[in-house]
Amino acid sequence: MDRPELTTHFGYRDVPLGDKQTLVNEVFHSVASRYDLMNDLMSAGLHRVWKDIMINALNPPRSDAPFALLDVAGGTGDISFRAAREAGHGFHATVCDINPDMLAVGRERAAKNHLDDRVDFVEGNAEALSFPDRAFDAYTIAFGIRNVPRIDLALGEAYRVLKPGGRFLCLEFSTVDVPGLDRIYDLFSFKVIPPLGRMVTGDPDSYQYLVESIRKFPRPNAFAEMVRDAGFSRVTWQSLSGGIVALHSGWRL
Ligand SMILES: C[S@@+](CC[C@H](N)C(=O)[O-])C[C@H]1O[C@@H](n2cnc3c(N)ncnc32)[C@H](O)[C@@H]1O
Repeated sequence: MDRPELTTHFGYRDVPLGDKQTLVNEVFHSVASRYDLMNDLMSAGLHRVWKDIMINALNPPRSDAPFALLDVAGGTGDISFRAAREAGHGFHATVCDINPDMLAVGRERAAKNHLDDRVDFVEGNAEALSFPDRAFDAYTIAFGIRNVPRIDLALGEAYRVLKPGGRFLCLEFSTVDVPGLDRIYDLFSFKVIPPLGRMVTGDPDSYQYLVESIRKFPRPNAFAEMVRDAGFSRVTWQSLSGGIVALHSGWRL
């Protein structure tokens, strides 16, 4: 008897598990050159505030003490650049992303901002990292985990590559929990974001995927449980901007 095919979500569509990554890669291939501009327009600059809150939590050393950050699904490098600017001379970040187009934009930005000696860009899949065990002091993933087909594999890899005492931080869209704001947010998401995506990138479908994938992502408590299941300790999360975004934290002890 044939075994039933494993499926997952790509936005609101059910797709074979093996197809999701290809579809996600098409999204970021299509939007890479205008990705940073779209972030500013869609969030009215708020993504910068959320990212700064993540960097505050990361709290990289200002001293010369060595500190290795792995920024997975790091795309055009935003998180790593912000961390590098806050950190001392011992800091080094590795941006790992599956999409060469996003990495190309990131490399260009690093050179322009004179950060190319402190931030490296590596192509790789969050589900199967090419880094050795216990190699990093911190692992960040911002607006990335939602796109990964097998989240449990990515969390297992995060645990594996962290040193004991290492920090896991995940910033991701979440569930709006303020009455009233939820309706405005839904209206804005479905009526404004895809047309804005059409205007800026010529690709409304990628932004339709964005708003749908947000609704399919586990609620913060459920995601915290997944982080615990991967082996992390002292797992906590905070809700930002009425639940538009959540920041999850865990430690490899
Ligand atoms: C929304 S962007 C986030 C980029 C960046 N972290 C930021 O906050 O601006 C999501 C990124 O996840 C990457 N991505 C998707 N699936 C991935 C996977 N399996 N492994 C690594 N990166 C992945 C995409 O290529 C894309 O660059």
